[in-house]
Amino acid sequence: MVTLTIDDIEIKAPEGEKILWAALDNDIYIPNLCAIREADVPFGGCRLCFVEIEGRKSPVTACSQVVEPGMVVHTNTPKVNRLRRTAFELLLSHHAIDCRNCAKNRNCELQRIASRLGFKLKLQRFRSIPRSLPIDSTHPLFIYDPNKCVLCGKCVWVCNERGEGDIDFAYRGIDTVVSTFDNMPMADSICSSCMECVEICPVGALVPKDGDNNGGGPHGT
Ligand code: FES
Repeated sequence: MVTLTIDDIEIKAPEGEKILWAALDNDIYIPNLCAIREADVPFGGCRLCFVEIEGRKSPVTACSQVVEPGMVVHTNTPKVNRLRRTAFELLLSHHAIDCRNCAKNRNCELQRIASRLGFKLKLQRFRSIPRSLPIDSTHPLFIYDPNKCVLCGKCVWVCNERGEGDIDFAYRGIDTVVSTFDNMPMADSICSSCMECVEICPVGALVPKDGDNNGGGPHGT
């Protein structure tokens, strides 16, 4: 075991553990949207999990940084908060914010993060770059709304873990979306209806048709 300090609390974590999981296991909150504990390689896309480590020049992402003996970590500094606020607002700038009419309302990770960090769910510094992509409701069990997707990659990861590989990232930069092969409707794709992508989605991009809303699945937080 490795002994380290996070926010003045001395904790122990298994060797090789990432700071994020060591903190969460000890009830120290670090916001995160794209981290999956079981993933071999952290995705590192949301940039919400920044922390500062004493002796390091720049903040690091807690989901990718391994714990070290004697490490002193701070999760709530002005620099970290600035970075998080920017990352959060960038996510919002590309997200269809319509919480009241969203099936995931009150069970959405963006709402949870906003409430934990005291952030507003509206844009303040950046302009909105809304997408108006077609909503795919062809699948009998779930609806996919790419306009609400935050590109956390969790659905892609779980689909690959299942050995299906039905969905993946398509296009680049601002046009990036999660899509089936050749952008086929879900109902015509090779989806086996395991529903794990729906279970793991932290926002309202993949929601069940029966309205059985979950909290982002067992893989995240
Ligand atoms: S949780 Fe670390 S970058 Fe997303």
